[in-house]
Amino acid sequence: MARILGIGIATIDIINHVSSYPAEDDEVRALSQQQVRGGNVTNTLVVLSQQGHDCDWCGVLIDEADTAIVEQDLQHYQINYQHCQWLDQGKMPTSYITLSEASGSRSIVHYRDCPELPFSHFKALDLSVYDWLHFEGRNIDELSRMLQWVKLNYPTLRCSLEVEKPRPGIEALFELTDVLMFSRPYAQSRGYQTAADFLNSLNHDGLMTCSWGEQGAWLKHQGIVLHSAAFPPEQVVDTLGAGDTFNAGLISALVNGLSAGLALEQACRLAGCKCGQTGFANLDKAL
Ligand code: ADP
Ligand code: FRU
Repeated sequence: MARILGIGIATIDIINHVSSYPAEDDEVRALSQQQVRGGNVTNTLVVLSQQGHDCDWCGVLIDEADTAIVEQDLQHYQINYQHCQWLDQGKMPTSYITLSEASGSRSIVHYRDCPELPFSHFKALDLSVYDWLHFEGRNIDELSRMLQWVKLNYPTLRCSLEVEKPRPGIEALFELTDVLMFSRPYAQSRGYQTAADFLNSLNHDGLMTCSWGEQGAWLKHQGIVLHSAAFPPEQVVDTLGAGDTFNAGLISALVNGLSAGLALEQACRLAGCKCGQTGFANLDKAL
């Protein structure tokens, strides 16, 4: 069991379940609707907590009625959020999600009116109690200062960074981390058509992964590229947060001392289980 701090966002996810994805200018009726907590880093923490780790989240919370959805879920999964920054202006970031029953795919329209976590807030935390820090690749200027601060003051503390979207300056952060988790859209934005070609184009002292949906994921460590196939569930029900679950599986395996190859396989296995069900509950029994 490790003590893990995640830095990133929580969202309100309004999920409309539809039988198949609508065409543009269509009008369709949702089969059901859910309002749940989402957000990459908090999704990852919810899965890590179910893998037996002691998890804290640091991000921004807005003092408004909808925040109760986020708080209740974090409490349910025993995620400590006492280090969050509370603000009385703005709105919790909100995602309007269409989840297709035909394919299990999710399309997201995201709206935010919420300031990002500043370095000044992060700097006040006592990081000596943690075994691992996991960062969402956003808010690049402040994140750069956070990672440099960690390198300077906690040089042995392991840091992972999720690189999901191309953002100006994000590449400068790579050398400040031990583990990099890339997405297919990021690799494609750099001009690569395969995860292996993309990972081979990078030199990084630590470990890097690139997940590629139903094709599984690739990992590069000490110059060697490995692949794990996906673990398809009987039926793909919900792929929302598959990547966040993959990241949790990877961190959990690495912090528990598993080899790179086994960590990759465990991450794909956990993500596959998640795709076979709605949401993130009961993933403690998945492996
Ligand atoms: P994201 O959720 O960020 O778009 P991916 O689509 O790359 O991330 O998915 C992350 C991981 O989840 C993949 O590496 C794979 O192991 C698993 N996964 C995603 N989609 C499927 C699927 N349809 N069937 C089985 N596993 C899947
Ligand atoms: C899934 C997710 C959702 C959230 C969106 C934010 O990976 O974290 O829960 O609404 O992405 O970009």
